[in-house]
Amino acid sequence: MVGQFDGKVVVVTGGGSGIGRCCAVAFAQHGARVVVADVAVDGGEETARQIVTDGGEALFVRADVAQSGEVRAMLSRAVETYGRLDYAVNNAGISAGFPLHEYPDEDWERVLRINLTGVFLCMKHEIIHMLAHGGGGHRQHRIGGWSCRVTRRRRLHGQQTRRRRADQGGCPRVCPAGHARQRRLPWLYPDPHGPL
Ligand SMILES: NC(=O)c1ccc[n+]([C@@H]2O[C@H](COP(=O)([O-])OP(=O)(O)OC[C@H]3O[C@@H](n4cnc5c(N)ncnc54)[C@H](O)[C@@H]3O)[C@@H](O)[C@H]2O)c1
Repeated sequence: MVGQFDGKVVVVTGGGSGIGRCCAVAFAQHGARVVVADVAVDGGEETARQIVTDGGEALFVRADVAQSGEVRAMLSRAVETYGRLDYAVNNAGISAGFPLHEYPDEDWERVLRINLTGVFLCMKHEIIHMLAHGGGGHRQHRIGGWSCRVTRRRRLHGQQTRRRRADQGGCPRVCPAGHARQRRLPWLYPDPHGPL
């Protein structure tokens, strides 16, 4: 299998179903070795099985993205198995599906813990591994609505970069995905006029 991501390693959180599974399979079809991370064991194993059956390489690791220790252990396993980490799709998330004025407080706390803190924890530990393996210019995509990229240059010169971005009217390190996402991952969006 020869592709755009040959030899690269990608982690897809929430890879056990839906958008995460599609991303995991698509990365594998383009040559990446895929670490599928999910709390749902059946779904996660099924995604990995699909990839391997299609001739790709995949590993399922059960991990709750809201638990720092589980995120760290999952990423250690990924790097032990494949030797590096190049990309991450921090997609795991939930929605309790209530209208705002009926949203139970405890459900809101849970959404924040998984959808917000979970992305933070994953990115924090993913970036450590990416930089440790010569990372630079890597991009992380939060398919659920936010994207972020990190570069070694920006880590070293973060202040200048933040100032320059602010001058350009942009936000420094995290920005809504939207059209930029479509430009960066054209193979996920074969129809340029299709939905984002
Ligand atoms: N589908 C949409 O229309 C839509 C719209 C906006 C945002 N999103 C976001 O996109 C992402 C994927 O959506 P989807 O429709 O594929 O959802 P989905 O429910 O099919 O998939 C989410 C996956 O995340 C996993 N997950 C949940 N909590 C987890 C945790 N704590 N740790 C690890 N894995 C966990 C689930 O087991 C599941 O496999 C979600 O974050 C969702 O909030 C989806």
